[in-house]
Amino acid sequence: MSIRAFLFYICIMLSDSPIGIFDSGFGGLTVFKSIKERLSDHDFIYLGDNARAPYGDRSHQTVYEFTLEAVEWLMKQGCPLIILACNTASAKALRDIQQKDLPRLGADKRVLGVIRPTAEVIGEYSQTGTVGILGTKGTVSSGSYLMEINKFYPELNVYQQACPLWVHMIEHYLYDTDIVENIVKKDLKKLLSQSDEIDTVLLGCTHYPILQEQIDRNLPKGIRSISQGDIVADSLVDYLHRHPEMDERITKKGSMQFFTTDSPDNFDEQATRFFGQTVSSKNVHL
Ligand code: DGL
Repeated sequence: MSIRAFLFYICIMLSDSPIGIFDSGFGGLTVFKSIKERLSDHDFIYLGDNARAPYGDRSHQTVYEFTLEAVEWLMKQGCPLIILACNTASAKALRDIQQKDLPRLGADKRVLGVIRPTAEVIGEYSQTGTVGILGTKGTVSSGSYLMEINKFYPELNVYQQACPLWVHMIEHYLYDTDIVENIVKKDLKKLLSQSDEIDTVLLGCTHYPILQEQIDRNLPKGIRSISQGDIVADSLVDYLHRHPEMDERITKKGSMQFFTTDSPDNFDEQATRFFGQTVSSKNVHL
């Protein structure tokens, strides 16, 4: 082996190889929190594209292009495995990235989403066989949940409701106000008016657990809300067990790095609140 090749090999051996977690903004932190509880030794990089959030009203092409930029950036930081902790990006960009871009970016790298792991288990939560899904306009109109759930629970009745203002409210730090309460109430009513049988409401946007208190106090008795953090985290643990070759590539120093495309000060203040521990981020331009 030449000295050059040897030095290159040493650099590779010494560099970090974290799991990348991406969302349009703060929402992915609700998933990252559950993942970190299960994989405390693994290294992670979180990237929130807060400057360009929300993605929910954007076109398919724009969500794809923004998500691809994020994936490419995370791969440059050494991530061999990336979780799109965003339903909108999972619905609109994941398939294209997996099929068109991964062969070029590195066939041994993986990008996973949040819709499929959720669809795999959602049927287990309902006694009535009827589930309601709240999501962004992009996720709901993509029909991705209907398609994926049908593969695992063809008998399940699924109703959807877009909540176009929720991510805006969260990204603008509005939580405990009357306006938020009224909007949440109104959108829940629209979902539940579609069927009396709904007993399970899936929060099909990773931002929505941030409003879980407001959601739960406006749900009628007997109807429960399900957030995706634990579901996605369990699925990732299972994936790493089934793919030890990927698990071995992830460095394990228990490190966490946070990046935002917007102001780190704002990000840190809000993120610390949702994430449950102090967050210190850096700004990045994609
Ligand atoms: N957290 C994203 C999701 O799960 C929010 C999308 C948005 O930015 O509108 O869909």
